[in-house]
Amino acid sequence: MSRKILVTSALPYANGSIHLGHLVEYIQTDIWVRFQKMQGNTVHYVCADDTHGTPIMLRAEKEGITPEALIAKVHTEHYADFSEFLVEFDNYYSTNSPENKELASAIYKALKANGKISTKTIEQFYDPVKNMFLPDRFIKGECPKCHAKDQYGDSCEVCGATYNPTELINPFSAVSGAAPVRKETEHYFFKLSECTDFLRSWTRSGTLQQEAANKMNEWIGEAGENKLSDWDISRDAPYFGFEIPDAPGKYFYVWLDAPIGYMASFKNLCAKNGLDFDEYWKADSKTELYHFIGKDILYFHALFWPATLEYSGYRKPTQVFSHGFLTVNGEKMSKSRGTFITARSYLDHIKNPEYLRYYYAAKLNGSMEDIDLNLEDFVARVNSDLVGKYINIASRTAGFINKRFAGKLVSACKHDVVETIKASAPEIAKAYEARDYSRALREIMRLADLANADVADAAPWVVAKQEGMAAEAKLHADCSSALEMFRLLTLYLKPALPDLAGNIERFLNISPLTWSSVNDSFADGHAINEYNHLITRIDPKHIEAMTEANKETLQHSPETVSKTQADLANASDYISIDDFTKVDLRIAKIVNAEHVEGAEKLLRLSLDIGESNPRQVFAGIKSAYDPATLVGRLTLMVANLAPRKMKFGMSEGMVLAASDEHGGPFILSPDAGAQPGMRVK
Ligand code: 2FM
Ligand code: ZN
Repeated sequence: MSRKILVTSALPYANGSIHLGHLVEYIQTDIWVRFQKMQGNTVHYVCADDTHGTPIMLRAEKEGITPEALIAKVHTEHYADFSEFLVEFDNYYSTNSPENKELASAIYKALKANGKISTKTIEQFYDPVKNMFLPDRFIKGECPKCHAKDQYGDSCEVCGATYNPTELINPFSAVSGAAPVRKETEHYFFKLSECTDFLRSWTRSGTLQQEAANKMNEWIGEAGENKLSDWDISRDAPYFGFEIPDAPGKYFYVWLDAPIGYMASFKNLCAKNGLDFDEYWKADSKTELYHFIGKDILYFHALFWPATLEYSGYRKPTQVFSHGFLTVNGEKMSKSRGTFITARSYLDHIKNPEYLRYYYAAKLNGSMEDIDLNLEDFVARVNSDLVGKYINIASRTAGFINKRFAGKLVSACKHDVVETIKASAPEIAKAYEARDYSRALREIMRLADLANADVADAAPWVVAKQEGMAAEAKLHADCSSALEMFRLLTLYLKPALPDLAGNIERFLNISPLTWSSVNDSFADGHAINEYNHLITRIDPKHIEAMTEANKETLQHSPETVSKTQADLANASDYISIDDFTKVDLRIAKIVNAEHVEGAEKLLRLSLDIGESNPRQVFAGIKSAYDPATLVGRLTLMVANLAPRKMKFGMSEGMVLAASDEHGGPFILSPDAGAQPGMRVK
């Protein structure tokens, strides 16, 4: 019986480009969806841009456009990227949609009616210049552990420590540079702490991969324990998102309305195609719901999301499928190495998206392990498997059919290898169903090897030169069988290589292959079309050009799409000379230095850099210097750092000093001759 299935991939943020890391998931999902459709199941694959939140609001502001204009622009780009990678959504929508607003409000109201919403006054960092509360990522300062400067509010890229923004030394707002102040505000919470029992049983009921279920057990704790805290679902204005009903100035946190965006995208599809939304989303739905996600957002999909659905009266996901991250050449994608490759850049250089689809499929096995795109192996694998094994079967035999038999096939009498290939259909289907595409492709390539050996045995190029009816008949039968094998292998590869399969269907002059086409065979006299070249080998030069191009362009336009610490660290491996000259370094004369009352680490310095008044700078060097010994010395300062309002007054620059775990800080001194105000470059 045909299944009814709703499938989603995670909604990409609307403030950055799709890159090869993203594509692992969309390709993984698309292959599964295409496989299910080939099986004759009713499948709807929906997705959307994730459009809300502070980063998107600030990015739009920086670009001088409205958030609506930014998300519209990004939507067009994302959709084009996905389409060209043959990721075929049934609907690609936006979380900033009327459907999503209505659903988010209704779900919130239902949670409230079920007693699952509370409010609490909390203290948060606030930017007094920008007049906004700051998310952790927008607070920077000195790492409390290793004292590296300019670290994010939640973690240090240098030593890897994680902490609260309140622990940062000399915190400042990454938006305005101002010193943030602590400010009270009322927030809305979803009482996740009351969902423990439900979540414990839900996460153990076969809805997650074993590895994911284990992680959840850690987070939820054992029976009797309650490790879950309530979830903060509100943010204060200014915020780009949906205002909370009856709470003016309070907005839903982006992660509240993002997964609801799955429902909204489907609702939009229902209106277009006359589908029944309730059939898929009511608590007692008999349909199946699958979310494909990266392991980094498991927490949201395996805790917050099912709990939200449970307590607002909707069905829960049938299963959540998590995958690992992408590495390139065994390492995190890196802008400096040119391996932080956007979807667009791949298309510009390599052109054929199916090479990547094939390679990812060959690596994906349904587990949460990371997968590696080894660029050398990518070239070798695609060239040897696709061109050398698979396409080779047709390219060695089709010409004879076209030239010698007017394009007409002879119905193959029972042929061992054809039967062997047919017999593998259930095994290959099982592997696809389990998202173990690597197993499916291994089997398909084993069959391609058998087919090639069979063609080699038959040696049509030898038989073609022989005279007589028997040779003629043999040539006709062997080449027809080879094309039958080719047809079957095309069917098996179609979820991964849909465009190539489409071209082959046209060449073979057959209707679109579905899984049941395994049982078909060519009718006697079936006419194929002329064989044209189907696929070319990848030229390693294009790979090189692609990584080179990514090294160049990305250095000059630092993107803010990266999610992981390592991504961010990679992004800052190099700066351009333009970046460097932005820093106005000056020789400064310390005209006064003194202790600051109440400050453990700071000295107040007055620095002459040739301006009419000395600059006041607070420097964290108290542990190493007696202020009296500093007066009169020359040193080095950053003169164009945005002034920061600190507890003790304004700081109008920064003094440079060296330190590591063995000692410091040591301030710098110029050689004799340098004068206050001289530019350092
Ligand atoms: O991590 C991300 O990129 C999020 N934009 C994913 C959201 S998935 C869903 F919940 F909306
Ligand atoms: Zn650190």
